[in-house]
Amino acid sequence: TQSVGLIGWRGMVGSVLMQRMQDEGDFDLINPVFFSTSNAGGDAPAFAGAAAGDAGKLQDAYDVETLAKLPIIVTAQGGDYTSEVYPKLRDAGWDGLWIDAASTLRMQDSSIIVLDPVNRDVIDAGLARGVKEFIGGNCTVSCMLMGLGGLFKNGLVEWGTSMTYQAASGGGARHMRELLNQFGSLNAAVSAELADPASAILEIDRKILAQQRNPELDSSQFGVPLAGSVIPWIDKDLGNGQSKEEWKAPAETNKILGLSDDQRIPFDGLCVRIGAMRSHSQALTLKLTEDLPVAEIERIIDADNEWSRVVPNTKEATMEHLTPVAASGTLEIPVGRIRKLEMGPEYISAFTVGDQLLWGAAEPLRRMLRIATG
Ligand code: HSE
Repeated sequence: TQSVGLIGWRGMVGSVLMQRMQDEGDFDLINPVFFSTSNAGGDAPAFAGAAAGDAGKLQDAYDVETLAKLPIIVTAQGGDYTSEVYPKLRDAGWDGLWIDAASTLRMQDSSIIVLDPVNRDVIDAGLARGVKEFIGGNCTVSCMLMGLGGLFKNGLVEWGTSMTYQAASGGGARHMRELLNQFGSLNAAVSAELADPASAILEIDRKILAQQRNPELDSSQFGVPLAGSVIPWIDKDLGNGQSKEEWKAPAETNKILGLSDDQRIPFDGLCVRIGAMRSHSQALTLKLTEDLPVAEIERIIDADNEWSRVVPNTKEATMEHLTPVAASGTLEIPVGRIRKLEMGPEYISAFTVGDQLLWGAAEPLRRMLRIATG
Protein backbone atom coordinates (compact mmCIF):
# COMPACT_ATOMS: atom_id res chain seq x y z
CA THR A 1 0.00 0.00 0.00
CA GLN A 2 1.21 3.43 -0.93
CA SER A 3 1.46 6.22 1.60
CA VAL A 4 -0.71 9.19 0.71
CA GLY A 5 -0.45 12.60 2.36
CA LEU A 6 -3.81 14.23 2.99
CA ILE A 7 -4.05 17.98 3.50
CA GLY A 8 -7.14 20.12 3.97
CA TRP A 9 -9.26 17.12 4.95
CA ARG A 10 -11.14 19.08 7.61
CA GLY A 11 -12.54 21.83 5.35
CA MET A 12 -15.79 21.64 3.40
CA VAL A 13 -14.41 20.04 0.23
CA GLY A 14 -11.98 17.94 2.27
CA SER A 15 -14.77 16.65 4.49
CA VAL A 16 -16.82 15.60 1.48
CA LEU A 17 -13.72 13.90 0.07
CA MET A 18 -13.08 12.01 3.32
CA GLN A 19 -16.71 10.89 3.43
CA ARG A 20 -16.59 9.65 -0.15
CA MET A 21 -13.31 7.83 0.52
CA GLN A 22 -14.89 6.08 3.49
CA ASP A 23 -18.02 5.22 1.49
CA GLU A 24 -15.92 3.64 -1.25
CA GLY A 25 -13.45 1.84 1.02
CA ASP A 26 -10.53 3.86 -0.35
CA PHE A 27 -8.76 3.92 3.01
CA ASP A 28 -8.33 0.15 2.83
CA LEU A 29 -6.10 0.65 -0.20
CA ILE A 30 -3.73 3.33 1.06
CA ASN A 31 -1.69 4.25 4.08
CA PRO A 32 -3.05 7.74 4.87
CA VAL A 33 -0.79 10.33 6.48
CA PHE A 34 -2.82 13.26 7.76
CA PHE A 35 -1.38 16.76 7.81
CA SER A 36 -2.60 19.94 9.44
CA THR A 37 -1.77 23.60 8.89
CA SER A 38 -2.81 24.51 12.44
CA ASN A 39 -2.79 21.46 14.69
CA ALA A 40 0.38 19.47 14.00
CA GLY A 41 0.97 16.98 16.79
CA GLY A 42 -2.74 16.51 17.42
CA ASP A 43 -4.43 13.17 16.86
CA ALA A 44 -5.02 12.10 13.29
CA PRO A 45 -8.69 11.36 12.54
CA ALA A 46 -9.97 7.90 13.37
CA PHE A 47 -12.15 7.45 10.32
CA ALA A 48 -9.54 5.79 8.16
CA GLY A 49 -10.95 2.29 8.58
CA ALA A 50 -8.44 -0.43 9.42
CA ALA A 51 -5.60 2.06 9.63
CA ALA A 52 -7.40 3.94 12.41
CA GLY A 53 -5.50 2.22 15.17
CA ASP A 54 -2.16 3.54 13.98
CA ALA A 55 -3.38 6.75 12.39
CA GLY A 56 -0.87 8.44 14.67
CA LYS A 57 -0.38 12.18 14.96
CA LEU A 58 -1.09 14.99 12.57
CA GLN A 59 1.97 16.09 10.66
CA ASP A 60 2.86 19.70 9.96
CA ALA A 61 1.52 20.65 6.52
CA TYR A 62 4.35 23.19 6.08
CA ASP A 63 7.09 20.67 6.84
CA VAL A 64 8.51 20.11 3.37
CA GLU A 65 10.87 17.36 4.49
CA THR A 66 8.03 15.20 5.83
CA LEU A 67 5.82 15.91 2.82
CA ALA A 68 8.66 15.00 0.47
CA LYS A 69 8.77 11.45 1.83
CA LEU A 70 5.35 10.71 0.35
CA PRO A 71 4.84 9.37 -3.18
CA ILE A 72 1.37 10.98 -3.44
CA ILE A 73 -0.09 14.10 -1.85
CA VAL A 74 -3.77 15.03 -2.04
CA THR A 75 -4.75 18.54 -0.98
CA ALA A 76 -8.04 20.36 -0.61
CA GLN A 77 -6.41 23.05 1.51
CA GLY A 78 -6.79 25.84 -1.04
CA GLY A 79 -4.80 27.92 -3.49
CA ASP A 80 -2.72 29.88 -0.98
CA TYR A 81 -1.39 26.65 0.47
CA THR A 82 -0.53 25.27 -2.96
CA SER A 83 1.24 28.49 -3.95
CA GLU A 84 3.33 28.44 -0.81
CA VAL A 85 4.21 24.76 -0.45
CA TYR A 86 4.21 23.22 -3.91
CA PRO A 87 7.24 25.11 -5.33
CA LYS A 88 9.24 24.34 -2.18
CA LEU A 89 8.49 20.64 -2.53
CA ARG A 90 9.68 20.58 -6.13
CA ASP A 91 12.76 22.66 -5.20
CA ALA A 92 13.53 20.01 -2.60
CA GLY A 93 13.62 17.44 -5.39
CA TRP A 94 10.27 15.77 -4.64
CA ASP A 95 8.96 13.88 -7.66
CA GLY A 96 5.69 12.49 -6.33
CA LEU A 97 2.15 12.98 -7.60
CA TRP A 98 0.32 16.12 -6.50
CA ILE A 99 -3.50 15.86 -6.58
CA ASP A 100 -5.11 19.21 -5.81
CA ALA A 101 -8.56 20.82 -5.72
CA ALA A 102 -7.26 24.40 -6.02
CA SER A 103 -7.03 26.35 -9.27
CA THR A 104 -3.40 27.45 -8.78
CA LEU A 105 -1.80 24.86 -11.07
CA ARG A 106 -4.85 24.08 -13.19
CA MET A 107 -3.93 25.91 -16.36
CA GLN A 108 -0.18 25.20 -16.22
CA ASP A 109 1.12 23.23 -19.19
CA SER A 110 2.67 20.82 -16.70
CA SER A 111 -0.72 19.83 -15.23
CA ILE A 112 -3.76 17.82 -16.22
CA ILE A 113 -7.31 18.70 -15.14
CA VAL A 114 -8.84 15.49 -13.84
CA LEU A 115 -12.37 14.39 -14.73
CA ASP A 116 -11.79 10.76 -15.63
CA PRO A 117 -15.27 9.82 -16.87
CA VAL A 118 -14.67 12.51 -19.50
CA ASN A 119 -10.90 12.52 -20.02
CA ARG A 120 -9.46 9.22 -18.84
CA ASP A 121 -7.47 9.09 -22.08
CA VAL A 122 -5.85 12.45 -21.32
CA ILE A 123 -5.06 11.32 -17.75
CA ASP A 124 -3.55 8.00 -18.86
CA ALA A 125 -1.44 9.66 -21.54
CA GLY A 126 -0.24 12.17 -18.93
CA LEU A 127 0.71 9.48 -16.45
CA ALA A 128 2.57 7.64 -19.19
CA ARG A 129 4.66 10.69 -20.07
CA GLY A 130 5.42 11.50 -16.43
CA VAL A 131 2.96 14.28 -15.60
CA LYS A 132 2.93 14.82 -11.81
CA GLU A 133 0.22 17.46 -11.30
CA PHE A 134 -3.41 16.31 -11.41
CA ILE A 135 -5.79 19.12 -10.60
CA GLY A 136 -9.55 19.15 -10.08
CA GLY A 137 -11.45 21.42 -12.47
CA ASN A 138 -13.68 24.37 -11.79
CA CYS A 139 -16.92 23.06 -10.34
CA THR A 140 -19.19 24.52 -13.02
CA VAL A 141 -17.04 23.14 -15.81
CA SER A 142 -16.78 19.67 -14.26
CA CYS A 143 -20.52 19.42 -13.65
CA MET A 144 -21.28 20.64 -17.19
CA LEU A 145 -18.94 18.10 -18.79
CA MET A 146 -20.22 15.26 -16.61
CA GLY A 147 -23.68 16.04 -17.95
CA LEU A 148 -22.96 16.93 -21.57
CA GLY A 149 -19.60 15.24 -22.10
CA GLY A 150 -21.09 12.83 -24.63
CA LEU A 151 -21.81 15.63 -27.08
CA PHE A 152 -18.36 17.19 -26.65
CA LYS A 153 -16.45 13.91 -26.86
CA ASN A 154 -18.21 12.93 -30.05
CA GLY A 155 -17.22 16.21 -31.70
CA LEU A 156 -20.85 17.33 -31.90
CA VAL A 157 -20.47 20.78 -30.33
CA GLU A 158 -19.52 23.63 -32.68
CA TRP A 159 -19.84 26.21 -29.92
CA GLY A 160 -21.70 26.64 -26.65
CA THR A 161 -22.83 29.19 -24.16
CA SER A 162 -23.55 28.51 -20.52
CA MET A 163 -25.47 30.86 -18.23
CA THR A 164 -24.93 29.68 -14.68
CA TYR A 165 -26.92 29.64 -11.47
CA GLN A 166 -24.19 28.99 -8.91
CA ALA A 167 -24.80 27.96 -5.33
CA ALA A 168 -23.45 29.65 -2.20
CA SER A 169 -21.11 26.73 -1.43
CA GLY A 170 -18.90 27.79 -4.35
CA GLY A 171 -17.86 30.74 -2.22
CA GLY A 172 -17.20 28.57 0.83
CA ALA A 173 -18.71 27.49 4.11
CA ARG A 174 -18.99 31.02 5.47
CA HIS A 175 -20.91 32.07 2.39
CA MET A 176 -23.49 29.34 2.99
CA ARG A 177 -23.96 30.50 6.56
CA GLU A 178 -24.29 34.10 5.46
CA LEU A 179 -27.01 33.22 2.96
CA LEU A 180 -28.99 31.38 5.63
CA ASN A 181 -28.56 34.21 8.11
CA GLN A 182 -29.87 36.61 5.49
CA PHE A 183 -32.91 34.42 4.80
CA GLY A 184 -33.56 34.30 8.55
CA SER A 185 -33.18 38.01 9.00
CA LEU A 186 -35.53 38.75 6.09
CA ASN A 187 -38.12 36.37 7.48
CA ALA A 188 -37.83 37.90 10.93
CA ALA A 189 -38.43 41.38 9.50
CA VAL A 190 -41.94 40.38 8.36
CA SER A 191 -42.91 37.44 10.53
CA ALA A 192 -45.85 39.28 12.10
CA GLU A 193 -47.21 40.24 8.67
CA LEU A 194 -46.69 36.70 7.34
CA ALA A 195 -48.69 35.29 10.23
CA ASP A 196 -51.61 37.53 9.28
CA PRO A 197 -53.17 36.43 5.97
CA ALA A 198 -54.87 39.82 5.68
CA SER A 199 -51.62 41.82 5.72
CA ALA A 200 -50.71 43.69 2.53
CA ILE A 201 -48.12 42.03 0.29
CA LEU A 202 -46.71 45.36 -0.92
CA GLU A 203 -46.06 46.34 2.67
CA ILE A 204 -44.24 43.04 3.21
CA ASP A 205 -42.22 43.62 0.05
CA ARG A 206 -41.31 47.14 1.17
CA LYS A 207 -40.06 45.87 4.52
CA ILE A 208 -38.04 43.09 2.89
CA LEU A 209 -36.37 45.52 0.51
CA ALA A 210 -35.59 47.84 3.41
CA GLN A 211 -34.03 44.93 5.28
CA GLN A 212 -32.02 43.83 2.20
CA ARG A 213 -30.70 47.38 1.93
CA ASN A 214 -30.13 47.70 5.66
CA PRO A 215 -26.38 48.14 6.21
CA GLU A 216 -26.79 46.02 9.34
CA LEU A 217 -27.62 42.95 7.25
CA ASP A 218 -24.44 40.87 7.19
CA SER A 219 -23.23 40.51 3.63
CA SER A 220 -19.52 40.53 4.37
CA GLN A 221 -18.80 37.30 2.48
CA PHE A 222 -20.64 37.97 -0.77
CA GLY A 223 -20.25 41.75 -0.58
CA VAL A 224 -23.92 42.44 -1.27
CA PRO A 225 -27.09 40.64 -0.12
CA LEU A 226 -27.77 37.36 -1.92
CA ALA A 227 -30.99 36.25 -0.19
CA GLY A 228 -33.88 37.33 -2.40
CA SER A 229 -31.44 38.61 -5.03
CA VAL A 230 -28.82 37.38 -7.50
CA ILE A 231 -25.21 38.48 -8.06
CA PRO A 232 -24.20 38.32 -11.74
CA TRP A 233 -20.45 38.34 -11.06
CA ILE A 234 -18.30 35.51 -9.64
CA ASP A 235 -14.58 35.72 -8.86
CA LYS A 236 -12.15 38.41 -10.05
CA ASP A 237 -12.76 41.14 -12.63
CA LEU A 238 -10.33 40.42 -15.46
CA GLY A 239 -10.68 43.98 -16.73
CA ASN A 240 -11.94 42.96 -20.16
CA GLY A 241 -15.58 42.71 -19.16
CA GLN A 242 -15.23 39.06 -18.22
CA SER A 243 -15.19 37.53 -14.75
CA LYS A 244 -12.52 34.97 -13.92
CA GLU A 245 -15.22 32.34 -13.46
CA GLU A 246 -16.41 33.04 -17.01
CA TRP A 247 -12.87 32.83 -18.38
CA LYS A 248 -12.43 29.40 -16.80
CA ALA A 249 -15.32 27.86 -18.75
CA PRO A 250 -13.72 27.74 -22.22
CA ALA A 251 -10.14 27.50 -20.93
CA GLU A 252 -10.79 24.47 -18.75
CA THR A 253 -13.35 22.80 -21.00
CA ASN A 254 -10.88 22.68 -23.86
CA LYS A 255 -8.00 21.62 -21.63
CA ILE A 256 -10.03 18.79 -20.05
CA LEU A 257 -10.99 17.55 -23.51
CA GLY A 258 -7.36 17.73 -24.59
CA LEU A 259 -8.17 19.96 -27.58
CA SER A 260 -5.38 21.90 -29.24
CA ASP A 261 -5.72 25.57 -30.24
CA ASP A 262 -6.97 24.75 -33.73
CA GLN A 263 -9.55 22.28 -32.37
CA ARG A 264 -10.74 24.70 -29.68
CA ILE A 265 -14.49 24.86 -29.05
CA PRO A 266 -15.69 28.43 -28.32
CA PHE A 267 -17.58 28.32 -25.04
CA ASP A 268 -18.62 31.43 -23.14
CA GLY A 269 -21.39 32.91 -21.02
CA LEU A 270 -22.27 34.72 -17.81
CA CYS A 271 -21.73 33.29 -14.34
CA VAL A 272 -24.32 34.20 -11.73
CA ARG A 273 -24.54 33.53 -8.00
CA ILE A 274 -27.97 32.56 -6.71
CA GLY A 275 -29.31 31.54 -3.31
CA ALA A 276 -28.99 27.76 -3.73
CA MET A 277 -26.95 25.81 -1.17
CA ARG A 278 -24.53 23.36 -2.86
CA SER A 279 -25.62 22.53 -6.40
CA HIS A 280 -24.68 24.61 -9.39
CA SER A 281 -27.12 24.81 -12.30
CA GLN A 282 -26.54 26.07 -15.80
CA ALA A 283 -28.66 26.85 -18.82
CA LEU A 284 -26.90 26.00 -22.06
CA THR A 285 -27.29 26.90 -25.67
CA LEU A 286 -25.29 24.65 -27.96
CA LYS A 287 -24.76 24.85 -31.66
CA LEU A 288 -24.26 21.29 -32.81
CA THR A 289 -22.20 20.32 -35.81
CA GLU A 290 -25.17 18.38 -37.23
CA ASP A 291 -28.95 18.34 -37.17
CA LEU A 292 -29.50 15.36 -34.85
CA PRO A 293 -32.93 14.21 -33.67
CA VAL A 294 -33.58 15.07 -30.01
CA ALA A 295 -33.93 11.37 -29.16
CA GLU A 296 -30.44 10.74 -30.52
CA ILE A 297 -29.02 13.69 -28.56
CA GLU A 298 -30.63 12.31 -25.41
CA ARG A 299 -29.26 8.85 -26.07
CA ILE A 300 -25.71 10.17 -26.47
CA ILE A 301 -25.93 12.20 -23.25
CA ASP A 302 -27.41 9.36 -21.23
CA ALA A 303 -24.97 6.76 -22.54
CA ASP A 304 -21.81 8.78 -21.99
CA ASN A 305 -21.24 7.89 -18.35
CA GLU A 306 -23.18 6.26 -15.56
CA TRP A 307 -23.94 9.55 -13.77
CA SER A 308 -25.40 11.72 -16.54
CA ARG A 309 -29.16 11.26 -16.63
CA VAL A 310 -31.58 12.74 -19.12
CA VAL A 311 -34.68 14.26 -17.57
CA PRO A 312 -37.63 14.19 -19.97
CA ASN A 313 -38.50 17.68 -21.14
CA THR A 314 -41.83 17.90 -19.35
CA LYS A 315 -42.92 20.24 -16.60
CA GLU A 316 -43.45 17.43 -14.12
CA ALA A 317 -40.11 15.67 -14.62
CA THR A 318 -38.21 18.95 -14.71
CA MET A 319 -39.66 20.18 -11.45
CA GLU A 320 -39.08 16.87 -9.75
CA HIS A 321 -35.59 15.98 -11.00
CA LEU A 322 -33.87 19.05 -12.43
CA THR A 323 -33.29 21.28 -9.41
CA PRO A 324 -30.52 21.85 -6.85
CA VAL A 325 -32.81 20.35 -4.22
CA ALA A 326 -33.10 17.15 -6.27
CA ALA A 327 -29.43 16.88 -7.24
CA SER A 328 -27.71 17.84 -3.98
CA GLY A 329 -26.00 15.04 -2.10
CA THR A 330 -26.08 12.71 -5.12
CA LEU A 331 -23.54 11.92 -7.81
CA GLU A 332 -26.18 12.02 -10.53
CA ILE A 333 -25.98 14.81 -13.06
CA PRO A 334 -29.48 15.42 -14.41
CA VAL A 335 -29.65 17.01 -17.86
CA GLY A 336 -32.98 18.28 -19.08
CA ARG A 337 -34.83 20.97 -21.04
CA ILE A 338 -33.29 19.54 -24.21
CA ARG A 339 -35.08 20.91 -27.22
CA LYS A 340 -34.42 22.45 -30.60
CA LEU A 341 -34.37 26.24 -30.58
CA GLU A 342 -36.02 28.57 -33.07
CA MET A 343 -32.63 29.66 -34.42
CA GLY A 344 -32.26 26.48 -36.46
CA PRO A 345 -32.12 22.68 -36.33
CA GLU A 346 -28.54 22.57 -34.99
CA TYR A 347 -29.36 24.82 -32.03
CA ILE A 348 -30.39 23.16 -28.79
CA SER A 349 -31.07 24.21 -25.25
CA ALA A 350 -30.20 22.17 -22.18
CA PHE A 351 -30.24 22.66 -18.43
CA THR A 352 -28.06 20.73 -16.05
CA VAL A 353 -27.51 20.58 -12.29
CA GLY A 354 -24.67 19.08 -10.29
CA ASP A 355 -23.58 18.90 -6.67
CA GLN A 356 -20.73 21.38 -6.58
CA LEU A 357 -18.98 19.56 -3.72
CA LEU A 358 -19.17 16.08 -5.26
CA TRP A 359 -18.49 16.04 -9.03
CA GLY A 360 -17.64 19.73 -8.74
CA ALA A 361 -14.79 19.18 -6.29
CA ALA A 362 -14.19 16.01 -4.26
CA GLU A 363 -15.11 13.15 -6.57
CA PRO A 364 -12.64 13.80 -9.42
CA LEU A 365 -9.81 13.94 -6.85
CA ARG A 366 -10.94 10.76 -5.14
CA ARG A 367 -11.08 8.92 -8.44
CA MET A 368 -7.69 10.28 -9.50
CA LEU A 369 -6.20 8.90 -6.30
CA ARG A 370 -7.73 5.51 -7.18
CA ILE A 371 -6.19 5.68 -10.65
CA ALA A 372 -2.82 6.68 -9.23
CA THR A 373 -2.76 3.90 -6.64
CA GLY A 374 -4.44 1.28 -8.83
N1 HSE B 1 -15.58 29.27 -8.36
C1 HSE B 1 -16.68 28.44 -7.99
C2 HSE B 1 -17.78 29.24 -7.41
C3 HSE B 1 -16.28 27.43 -6.99
O1 HSE B 1 -17.50 30.31 -6.87
O2 HSE B 1 -18.92 28.82 -7.45
C4 HSE B 1 -15.41 26.32 -7.29
O3 HSE B 1 -14.89 26.01 -8.50
